[in-house]
Amino acid sequence: MKSPIRKAVLLVGGKGTRLRPLTLERPKALVPLLNQPLLSYELSLLARHGITDVILAVGYRADALKAALGDGSAWNVRLTYVEDPSPLGTAGALKNVESLIDGPFVAMNGDLVYDVDLGSVTRAHIESGATITFCLRRVEDIRRFGLIQCDDNGRVLAFKEKQEVDETRRNTVNSGLYVMSPDVPAQIPPGREFSNETQLFPGLLEAGHPLFGFVPPHQGYWADVGTLESYLQTSRDLLGSAIPWVRGSIAASADISPEASIHPPVCIGDDVNIAAGSVIGPNVAISRGCRIENGSRIRNAILWEDAQIQAGCELADTVVGARSTTPEGSRHVGEVIVQ
Ligand code: GDD
Ligand code: MG
Repeated sequence: MKSPIRKAVLLVGGKGTRLRPLTLERPKALVPLLNQPLLSYELSLLARHGITDVILAVGYRADALKAALGDGSAWNVRLTYVEDPSPLGTAGALKNVESLIDGPFVAMNGDLVYDVDLGSVTRAHIESGATITFCLRRVEDIRRFGLIQCDDNGRVLAFKEKQEVDETRRNTVNSGLYVMSPDVPAQIPPGREFSNETQLFPGLLEAGHPLFGFVPPHQGYWADVGTLESYLQTSRDLLGSAIPWVRGSIAASADISPEASIHPPVCIGDDVNIAAGSVIGPNVAISRGCRIENGSRIRNAILWEDAQIQAGCELADTVVGARSTTPEGSRHVGEVIVQ
């Protein structure tokens, strides 16, 4: 369903600490997933719902983001970059874009892979007259997320960030996607670090603002790509067609020896070279320019651009950074290799 709201703000200024050392080289929003930058999945979701005016609240490695995403036309959106002068936190970054806000807007954490009907979420926001509508997700393990407890009408009762258990057993967590009324940035103090989760949201609740949780009736795949484990898991899920409009592919320019075996699902980028005797897959994404030498075995792995796997290596549950090399005959399980 098309969204009646056309503007979004994406929070992409975090340091991606839990994905280090991969995020020393590039911001989390640019880590490759099926050979596309992580943020491209949010941009595509927004474009699919007609939300084409997209503000990126950037900070850490802003230049890399601008270089990779440009004006956004590759994803059918129009990007505007606004940079935190110093890390402003999730709410401070919203304050920093205040001058560009002229109506209700979608706000999203910038590390999500989400397939959701944004039209239903933005319509629910307009109908309820909420100050903020929180798109909620039911999960089994709430520990990595913000618990949001609501009454039977969806009105928010409490925010409890990163708890062990939900005593109500509803387990509805903050998906990282919100619809906000245009007066929200005015509630945030200027020029200093301020958090949505621990300051803005509880403060608005305390002040009596109408805050509503919304569990979309048709929710598809959702992942927060915050850790190595969730990064590898999301790659596996997408390769396994968790989102119907996302597909891995094998580039026509890839040079794959007829004596290599490929076990789908895999995604293989441009100019990749795979030598004889290699066994690739399942669940492997290989970015452009990688070289896999004779007799290597790779499963559940992500290779960034121009990585080189020397002969006879074995890789599982592993990420190899851009231009990194694994020495001949080496074995890597559950590793991040960055050189
Ligand atoms: N511009 C800017 N400036 N962006 C920031 C800053 C900042 O100072 N700090 C963090 N961000 C961005 C990150 O880049 C990320 O995209 C987003 O804000 C959320 O930060 P995370 O560090 O990924 O938060 P989290 O995963 O621990 O928890 C958040 O997301 C969960 C759902 O994915 C919370 O919102 C939880 O309540 C929520 O459940
Ligand atoms: Mg996150």
